[in-house]
Amino acid sequence: MSETLSASPANEVLRLEQVRKAFNIGTPLETEVLHGIDLRLNRGELAALIGPSGSGKSTLLNLIGLLDTPSSGELYVLGQATRDSDDEARTHLRNQAIGFVFQFHHLISAFSVLENVLMPLMIRHGKPSRADIDLARGLLDEVGLAQFADKKPTQISGGQQQRVAIARALVTRPPLLLADEPTG
Ligand SMILES: Nc1ncnc2c1ncn2[C@@H]1O[C@H](COP(=O)(O)OP(=O)(O)OP(=O)(O)O)[C@@H](O)[C@H]1O
Ligand SMILES: [Mg+2]
Repeated sequence: MSETLSASPANEVLRLEQVRKAFNIGTPLETEVLHGIDLRLNRGELAALIGPSGSGKSTLLNLIGLLDTPSSGELYVLGQATRDSDDEARTHLRNQAIGFVFQFHHLISAFSVLENVLMPLMIRHGKPSRADIDLARGLLDEVGLAQFADKKPTQISGGQQQRVAIARALVTRPPLLLADEPTG
């Protein structure tokens, strides 16, 4: 499909066209997990993905979060085709457009709770500004963790860690927020 044909409306955040994902391609263990997914999400829309363990939810979210690539099909984030884009372009688009709450939170243990929340902004523009810090503290307050800002992730509970991950995913005010089992 040509770029012109796939031009997307301004409010479109995400579009998947016939996305397939197989693992261990070309080996006896080859398994196709996603069999041709079509999905479109506009700004402000909410979608919930429900399915049994092993059905491919995390696989799909990893594709949408640009952490992995489809075996075939195309995935557009903010109208940009992503399958053939290089690592640098994917990293840039991920940082600009996507917040990700992982199934397992992936906080950085050497950094404080506040620093973990600030991390996406520091990746964007280095040293956090006063406004960045205020924003991060505000989000920690919203998830009920204001008093834990200076603790390390290992000093708080699993549910608290996941709430830190939610604050971190929101700190860039991303057009697309992905959450894999966020209540875990
Ligand atoms: N890197 C990989 N290599 C091979 N197979 C994989 C890989 N990642 C996932 N799979 C397989 O793909 C299938 C889907 O896994 P996935 O993690 O997406 O499931 P899920 O729906 O998120 O499950 P859960 O609810 O348990 O988190 C599983 O059968 C899994 O074994
Ligand atoms: Mg999963």
